Amino acid sequence: KVADLKGLKRGYLKLCVITTAKYFAPEVLGRFCQRHQGVDVALKVTNRDSVLERLIANKDDLYILGQNPERDLEMIATPFAPNPLHVIAHREHPLALERNIPVERLAEEYFIMREPGSGIRDYVLKTFGEAGLKPRVRMELGSNEAIKHAIYGKLGLSVLSLHTLAQEAESSELAILDVQGFPLERQWYVAHAKGKELSVVADAFIDFLGEESGRLCRQLDETRARLTRFQPPA
Ligand code: PGA
Repeated sequence: KVADLKGLKRGYLKLCVITTAKYFAPEVLGRFCQRHQGVDVALKVTNRDSVLERLIANKDDLYILGQNPERDLEMIATPFAPNPLHVIAHREHPLALERNIPVERLAEEYFIMREPGSGIRDYVLKTFGEAGLKPRVRMELGSNEAIKHAIYGKLGLSVLSLHTLAQEAESSELAILDVQGFPLERQWYVAHAKGKELSVVADAFIDFLGEESGRLCRQLDETRARLTRFQPPA
């Protein structure tokens, strides 16, 4: 493509992403803008329900979703990288060393839950519901970052996208739990409304996300290795 060879002379990309994508989307945009120095970008971060509302109302050029929406929507969605959900606890929590924890055991613990409208919240409720269980919700928080701090404060367990933990060091107070059925393996999708004519910049960005997938996978592997305390199987 001409755009790849020369760099786009100018252009504008309006991107709207789901909350957990804010942990990588700005860096990806930064690398994209380095390659295409004439391109300006805008980034909106919000939860699943409002990303889908904006998509239906055609407010942005492209959307990044944490999974393919189960709802029937007129859109084109292309997967580009994994987006696993893990159960997270304080590293001093006794479950941090256990293997193969049944979901029933989680129902005995306090849970920190995302707000209504969050895709992750629905996933957690569905997973518990399928096992005939209800989480003991201690508090609801509208931000992944606030949830991490609530776990530092030992207020309970939660389910987070592994990307939200990318900046946690080996000495982090957070640990991944080895729960049956987890991680929930999902994919990142880049999407736009069906029938929308994409700009050259938007097209170039979709291709660029494909190129970034290897880097995102490596980052996930490193994060998982740093935050695992239970002994992986030999
Ligand atoms: P949410 O979605 O921010 O709406 O929970 C994030 C995700 O599905 O990864």
